Amino acid sequence: MILVTGATGQFGSQAIDHLLSKGIKASEISALVRDEVKAETLKVKGIATRIGDYTDHGSLVRAFRNVDKLLLVSSNDRQAIENRTTQHINVIKAAKEAGVKHIVYTSFVRKPGFEESAIAAFQNSHVQSEAFLKESGIGYTILQNGIYMEMIPIFAGDNFSGTGTILFPAAGGSASYVLRTELGEAAAHVLTTQGHENKTYTLTNSVSESFYDIAAALSGALGHEVSYQPLPSDEFQSTLRQNGVPDPYIAMFSMWASAVAQGVMDVKDDTLTQFLGRTPTTVKQFIIQTYCIKHWCLGGAFYKRQAHH
Ligand SMILES: NC(=O)c1ccc[n+]([C@@H]2O[C@H](COP(=O)([O-])OP(=O)(O)OC[C@H]3O[C@@H](n4cnc5c(N)ncnc54)[C@H](OP(=O)(O)O)[C@@H]3O)[C@@H](O)[C@H]2O)c1
Repeated sequence: MILVTGATGQFGSQAIDHLLSKGIKASEISALVRDEVKAETLKVKGIATRIGDYTDHGSLVRAFRNVDKLLLVSSNDRQAIENRTTQHINVIKAAKEAGVKHIVYTSFVRKPGFEESAIAAFQNSHVQSEAFLKESGIGYTILQNGIYMEMIPIFAGDNFSGTGTILFPAAGGSASYVLRTELGEAAAHVLTTQGHENKTYTLTNSVSESFYDIAAALSGALGHEVSYQPLPSDEFQSTLRQNGVPDPYIAMFSMWASAVAQGVMDVKDDTLTQFLGRTPTTVKQFIIQTYCIKHWCLGGAFYKRQAHH
């Protein structure tokens, strides 16, 4: 039995879909959910749900009975970052108690010097969770996932469609963006194939892109000029504040922009290509898929895309 946590979230639900498409029977998969109401789409697929919360040890031990492999999707707790570490440790302790044999953990990409980066606290939570998992005595696989490509539209915002300019304080920094569903597919690959015990994998793209590259890809897709203006961080923050963006969001955007500027996620790797058996989706393809539905791409790639089909 494979149990997937975070199954009502995006990564967990996509990982389950990939397990199913790899031929794992629904009866061999269960889903940890904390809110049964959100689990309807899982039930329709024949996936049994087990109720549990990362903060409730007893609920986890009950949920993990008869589970061989567990995909631990890292928490999205929005309070203190230490909460996430505690929650992951709760899951690992409960898995040990319940006799789980193998945990696959979704960590985050890092490189030497990360301790000094804008996302050090976030990184440290993963470092501590990984260390606890390694020392638990349970078989483990650590997936150091790259930054989701889906973050690009969030970082770029919507304003550039009116102004033609992306305003973001990421300087000329590059990151190796990966589509979340392809990371879910890689997790399903690890869960369904042999040889991954006690391994740590970097799962990023084989190229890195800056916001200059992203603006160029948008220009190509939309058929009109989109430029990138790397604002100083304080100017970016005051612009967002004037536009009524709440402070926690401003802090979050600034933190990730600084991390991009510092090159913290600029780690290229080919392991994901091997696991997928194909080249991961590129930023250029993602931009066409994302923006050409929304904006129709009348002047550019939409027609080119049609011509290819
Ligand atoms: N690589 C990246 O760029 C990146 C970006 C963002 C996040 N992440 C990390 O990757 C994880 C998965 O991403 P995602 O997009 O799938 O996030 P998501 O859609 O927000 O899903 C997170 C899942 O974790 C579950 N969860 C949170 N707290 C829990 C708790 N106390 N007990 C049980 N379940 C709990 C949520 O349950 P509910 O459905 O009940 O809320 C949800 O199913 C995130 O949680 C975060 O740690 C990575």
